[in-house]
This record gives sequence, C-alpha cells and structure tokens, in this order.
Amino acid sequence: MSQSEPTLEVAASAAVAKIASISTIEALETLRVSWLGKQGRITDSMKKLGKIAPDQRKAEGARINAAKQQLIRSIGEQRAKIEAAALQQRLDSERVDVTLPGRGESVGTQHPLTKTLERIVDIFGRLGYVAASGPEIEDDWHNFEALNFPPDHPARAMHDTFYFPDGRLLRTHTSPVQIRAMIGQKPPLRVVAAGRVYRSDSDQTHSPMFHQVEGFVVGEDISFADLKGTLAEFVKAFFERDVEMRFRPSFFPFTEPSAEVDIRWGDRWLEVLGCGMVHPNVLRNCEIDPERYTGFAFGMGVERLAMLRYEVSDLRSFFDNDWRFLGQFG
Ligand code: PHE
Repeated sequence: MSQSEPTLEVAASAAVAKIASISTIEALETLRVSWLGKQGRITDSMKKLGKIAPDQRKAEGARINAAKQQLIRSIGEQRAKIEAAALQQRLDSERVDVTLPGRGESVGTQHPLTKTLERIVDIFGRLGYVAASGPEIEDDWHNFEALNFPPDHPARAMHDTFYFPDGRLLRTHTSPVQIRAMIGQKPPLRVVAAGRVYRSDSDQTHSPMFHQVEGFVVGEDISFADLKGTLAEFVKAFFERDVEMRFRPSFFPFTEPSAEVDIRWGDRWLEVLGCGMVHPNVLRNCEIDPERYTGFAFGMGVERLAMLRYEVSDLRSFFDNDWRFLGQFG
C-alpha cells in the first residue's frame, strides 16, 4: 500500500496542473468525472480503503481526502475562470459603439397615385361632394344592367371584363357606385367615389388594374351647363392654372347626352374624362323620378391625370414599385 500513496498524490498534482490549462467547460467536466465521478479515481481509492490495514486506514483516508479537496478546489476555480472569460468575450463582442455614425433612416412617401386620387377627391369635397365607395367585385346588374347596358349590348364588349365563374365580375368602372348611392338615398345628391377598376388590357398607357374617380349630382334643374362649369372648375384646381378644354360628343349607355373631355397639352388634345347627363333609365332603375330630377355624372382616370401632372410617360412606372421613381414624389 505504501507504494500507491505517493502515486495518487503525484497523479492528483499532475491533474491540478493540467486543470489550469483547460479552457472549456466540457474538457473540465471530463476531467472531473475521471477523478470524482462514480468510477473516478478518488471514488475508487475510497472503496479500497477497507482492504487497508486498520492502523494505516486513517492516514490513507486523510491523504485521499486531501487530494480530493485539492481537485475540487482547482476544478471550481478553473470553472469560474472559464465562465468569466466567456462572459468577457460576450461583453466585448456585443459592445455597442455609440460613437459610430447612424445608419440613416429614410422616410417613405405617399404613392403618386394615392396623392393624385386624394387630390381629386379633396377638390370635389370642397365643392360639397360626399365620398362614397362600392365593392371591387360587382354583379352584372350594378356594373352594367342598371347602368342601361342591355344584355348583349355592344358597349359591354368595350369593357374587356374579367368574369368570375359564378357570373360576378371585377368592376370595369366606378359607375356602379352611382347605382349604389342612388338606391340608398334620395336626391338631392352630390357624390364622389374613388377606387380601383379592372379591364383586361395592358400596354404603355393601359394597366389591367387602374383607378377612377366618379362624381355625380342629382337634383332638380341640374343641367349640362352645371356639368361644364363643375369640370372647368375642377381642371383649373387640379392643374393649378387655366387649361384649355373641349367637350367632344361621345356615347355611354348611362348618360344622354354624353361627352368626353379633352384638355390641351402642348400641341395635342388629351382625353381626361367621360361625362354626361344621367340617363332617365338609370334614374328609373334607382326609383328616382326622371320627370322631376335630372343629374350629371363624370368619370376620370387617375393614372392619366397623374401622368399629366407629374409628366410621367409610362403608366407602368406607377406599378413597378421602384424606389428611384417613387422617391421623387416626396
Ligand atoms: N364609366 C365611364 C368609363 O369608365 C366614365 C363615365 C362616368 C362616363 C360617368 C360618363 C359618366 O369610361
């Protein structure tokens, strides 16, 4: 037995020296288990104490215990060191350098179409028009039939309508809001409605989804002169200057007479809206007496007006969501 006593102490000292160089918790744990675990060297030596001569047992036990305490202490100290180093490393790597320059926040802007749409609605709001809206998924009756498009009327073909399998459709214009507003309320009415409309059409000046603003007035003694005056006021307010305009006879099933309005842009005439006097059949479909009431209505393309106001030549730029384009409207 006297041979093994120094061996344990020597080995324990060597282990203590090794512990000081261990840098991970895992390696430290492996070493701890090999000494202090259930099958560890210290535990093993303790078990063997019983076989030692009784007069030597006490001294031998003390020795093992001393080695054990030494190991426990150095393992504990090394664990604390490793943990402190890990914490320090984390603190260093996560340190916030408050002297670094900021990252630069850019503020978004309203989309030019939204600005244009709100501008149009605002102008009519100041003229006493009340805002209304309707669904983008419409039925045939509101989008066509009540607006005096009989079934199979050729004017329907002009609309390139997107249909759902059940016969409903994506509204092709904002005019169905006229029907919804007239059915819900009694004249006098002065309504403006803005929103998305859809037609199967796509090129430099057409997008399958675009925006319209609809306006209409129904009351006693409403005349075409009122319509002309209103639109002249609008064009002037929208472009913030006097713009030459002309009314060109046209056709819409829901207005009679009908006209398209062109404005002079440089040396060209550009169409900006459709309008007319509300057709008696439309009033009748909404249970408004055409003998007593008359009205005018108009519908304009928001993209077209935005292209003119901002001098944008390709309609598709509005839908590309390229920040270099959109950022110019801040
Ligand atoms: N709804 C017509 C269109 O989309 C425009 C219009 C509205 C014409 C109101 C007359 C009256 O082309």
